Amino acid sequence: MDYMLILLLFLVSNAIVCKVSYASSSYSPLVNSGLGHPHHHAPSGEQPLAKIAIHKTVLALHKSAYIRANPFILGLKLHEHVDSEHDWREGSEQYAWIEKCLASVDRQKQPWLIFSAHRVLGYSSNSWLANEGAFEEPMGRAHLQKLWQKYKVDIAFYGHVHNYERTCPIYQNQCVNPEISHYSGTVNGTIHVVVGGGGSHLSDFTEINTFWSLYKDYDWGFVKLTAFNHSSLLFEYKKSSDGKVYDSFTISRDYRDVLACVHDGCEATTLAT
Ligand SMILES: *[C@@H]1O[C@H](CO)[C@@H](O)[C@H](O)[C@H]1NC(C)=O
Ligand SMILES: *[C@@H]1O[C@H](CO)[C@@H](O)[C@H](O)[C@H]1NC(C)=O
Repeated sequence: MDYMLILLLFLVSNAIVCKVSYASSSYSPLVNSGLGHPHHHAPSGEQPLAKIAIHKTVLALHKSAYIRANPFILGLKLHEHVDSEHDWREGSEQYAWIEKCLASVDRQKQPWLIFSAHRVLGYSSNSWLANEGAFEEPMGRAHLQKLWQKYKVDIAFYGHVHNYERTCPIYQNQCVNPEISHYSGTVNGTIHVVVGGGGSHLSDFTEINTFWSLYKDYDWGFVKLTAFNHSSLLFEYKKSSDGKVYDSFTISRDYRDVLACVHDGCEATTLAT
């Protein structure tokens, strides 16, 4: 059984997560995953520290945290109607659900928009995904990237692949911003993050040079997100072994930056105003 090992911590109340599970029967709820999930496989690669960090961080979730999605997020309840792990395609029920969720966000009040799925629907340099040639699950990115762009998703998180990797802000296989650690201005691409190193075995990276990959780590770890306020977000990747930050970036921007028209990203602007 594979499970998702993303850890999101929102310290203030202005982040939105549109979370997608793929196979409800084997999906482990995010909030509970570090606490009660039975780790049936590969205990050899599992490290207790990872579990401790998850446990602490989940408990540290601030009471005022505003995390919402429609209909359910963070594993509070699984949306049982989504039972196919492949059907993300335009026209599918799941695609419509994702669009509904993304469209429901009022970026003035909830400026940070996070997409999350168990499997890699965006980008990963994982060796077996690379061998498939697409660096993603089949038909993920091809269909969903227009939604990420239209609704200006800041960050997309994935698990399933057991390592850590962060991409440049990217749209249609092009890095749209040369910046590495301090992002500001318009949302013209989404940052994709694989954070699957919460335990179990680790997954190999391909030797292929993936130009969109800014940071890779073959180790156990987790991500902490801190939204200080409506205009400042801090992303930190920490190794479980020492709790120290090994990769980080900030996003600073105003509402007008979210509204700004970008390539394939104007329609949402019209709806939001
Ligand atoms: C994307 O937005 C950033 C920040 O505003 C800007 O620096 C960059 O030139 C834009 N890239 C493209 C391809 O428009
Ligand atoms: C938002 O938080 C950041 C980081 O703490 C701070 O530098 C900035 O001044 C704050 N902005 C507003 C508008 O409060």
